[in-house]
Amino acid sequence: MRFDIITIFPEMFASVFSGGIIKKALDKGLVEIAVHDLRDFTRDKHRQVDDRPFGGLEGMVLKPEPIFAAVDAVRRGPEARVCLLSPQGRPFGAPLAEELAGRPQVVLICGRYEGVDERVAGHLADEEISIGDYVLTGGEPAAVVVVDAVSRFVGGVVGKEESVRHDSFAEGILDFPHYTRPREFRGLRVPQVLFSGDHGKIGRWRRKKALEKTLEKRPDLLKDRELAPEDRRLLEEIQNERKDS
Ligand code: ADE
Repeated sequence: MRFDIITIFPEMFASVFSGGIIKKALDKGLVEIAVHDLRDFTRDKHRQVDDRPFGGLEGMVLKPEPIFAAVDAVRRGPEARVCLLSPQGRPFGAPLAEELAGRPQVVLICGRYEGVDERVAGHLADEEISIGDYVLTGGEPAAVVVVDAVSRFVGGVVGKEESVRHDSFAEGILDFPHYTRPREFRGLRVPQVLFSGDHGKIGRWRRKKALEKTLEKRPDLLKDRELAPEDRRLLEEIQNERKDS
């Protein structure tokens, strides 16, 4: 799985991929990341990547020619997915991350300034991606988020594939709570069930806690969702306990 990042700030990526799980994945050759300076694809002596917007208004707009040239140069075949990072894009989440992980190559175009010439979104990118409803100063932090989240779905990147499947959002609900030593810290005790050795019981407790957390923090995730009978039963139990307390 290969990522090609097209940016006017290639130096921003120097340290982010030099540690942690992504670094290990790079060392093992499970993922490959190439960062390209958009200015290298300009043809004028000033290496100009932006220009004033037609129709007036403030600010500068990224020109289409260098971006089209950069994508033409790095795209390796029809299976590649070309993505423009922008606040107008499709909301990025686990389903899109998993979908992109199935591609041999993902090209990420980082937007900048007040905008990117619309022909990039309309005629070059296969996908426009937003990582949230806020405007970043550029697409670079969003590209880091996408590379990280997509890489976790690439086989072998996360130690136990199990943990990717159990993560928050993997099943459309939040993760259950985790505890480690000490058993008691500042008077705060680890739930007794985790010492029971009864894995069935622990599994049910975790599922219930995951549902409880989701109901509390992200009830939107439970709306319009087909729940398994056991989940429905656990949710009823949670709601009854809430009524009683
Ligand atoms: N560029 C600026 N804001 C962004 C966002 N929210 N997501 C992706 N790219 C962006």
